[in-house]
Amino acid sequence: MISYQDVRLMVNLLRHKFFGHRFPAHVAICVTNKCNLDCAYCYSQKFGMFQHDMTTEQLTGLVDELFQMGTRYIVLTGGEPLIRKDIRQIIRHIIGKGMKCGMSSNALLFERNLDVLDYLTSVNISIDGDEETHIKNRGQQDYKKILRGVDTAIARGLPVSIGCVLVKANQHCIKYVADLAKEKGCQCYFHIPYWRVDSSEGERGYTACTPMSMEETSKAMAQIHDLKNSGYPISYSNRMHAYLRDWPFKTPTVHRKELRDGMSKGFKPIHCLAGECYCIIDADGSVFPCASMIGQVKALKLTEVGFRKAWDNILAVRCSACHFFLQNELNLLFSLDVPTWMNLVKSWPHLLKQKKLPPATQPPAPPAPPAPSAPAEPQAVAKVG
Ligand SMILES: C[S@@+](CC[C@H](N)C(=O)[O-])C[C@H]1O[C@@H](n2cnc3c(N)ncnc32)[C@H](O)[C@@H]1O
Ligand code: SF4
Repeated sequence: MISYQDVRLMVNLLRHKFFGHRFPAHVAICVTNKCNLDCAYCYSQKFGMFQHDMTTEQLTGLVDELFQMGTRYIVLTGGEPLIRKDIRQIIRHIIGKGMKCGMSSNALLFERNLDVLDYLTSVNISIDGDEETHIKNRGQQDYKKILRGVDTAIARGLPVSIGCVLVKANQHCIKYVADLAKEKGCQCYFHIPYWRVDSSEGERGYTACTPMSMEETSKAMAQIHDLKNSGYPISYSNRMHAYLRDWPFKTPTVHRKELRDGMSKGFKPIHCLAGECYCIIDADGSVFPCASMIGQVKALKLTEVGFRKAWDNILAVRCSACHFFLQNELNLLFSLDVPTWMNLVKSWPHLLKQKKLPPATQPPAPPAPPAPSAPAEPQAVAKVG
């Protein structure tokens, strides 16, 4: 049954399509940039590690403002969102308003936060390939615990999507990730790093940060496209995979002049709607059009100027077309592309249901203090799962 809030979202998307009404339909919020891992390619570790996270009040106030402006889907990301002690309160505030709330997580803290899984609409769990490859990309950690995390979330009825960042070192794992999703009974999706973050960090940094060449990327897209056509549970639409497969440019983003040249040779761009229908908010409240822009352009902080002004500011920093997955899927959805909506409904039927909020639970008690003779535990977040 389609909810009243879904109908309102559709009305706003129609107003956008026919009258140019800008509104943040989908917002990703980095609730912290702190993390229990240190993945070599991670943007939050590069640009935001030392920022102050927004407070609970700032975040719930932001959710209220987003709701008023028309937001109906919020994704909590980071850093690792489950590191925040007030994460229950934030999610309950979102769901309580009738919005949908997804989360991206490395799944290593699921066991301590089982009740949080019951509040969410869906969860993306990051897995970059088989155990050896995953650890090369994302650092030493308990891989089996992540797989248990996938099982746990599915067992609690939460729709799961395995998210895989493709770089040179794990491009051979596409089929592995698709098979894993099929075996577990969940979805999967792929994306590529937004930029070469740093390849000068020794062996692991180099391996994980070297992007695929454009030819390798095209080949990978063709493989994903074919796997999806043959029935693998890959959530993004094949319209989008085909666009990336056939991307004719040498760089992942293009500006007006290159775009014009490409169009004169028959390329049909997917119009970018970042800053028109979606955005991402960094942990300190900086509002960016999309994740690929974090740390790359100046952004206003909603904690200083309010969300509306920071949102209006991002119009000025858009590129003309890009080669990134989530962004193009959102561009197609929010331009009301019918095949992309049909794919969404098929891959994510739960999105049509409104989650009923279970009773509030308390965060788990902190672990017992060490025995008096043991050395004191450091306060910092543990680096492994
Ligand atoms: C920044 S993480 C935060 C959530 C959680 N800690 C996780 O790992 O899923 C969100 C997603 O961005 C991906 N990611 C990290 N750095 C990236 C980069 N430079 N380019 C593209 N995606 C990246 C992660 O693999 C993950 O799928
Ligand atoms: S687990 Fe997520 S937030 Fe943490 S370092 Fe890895 S990609 Fe970044």
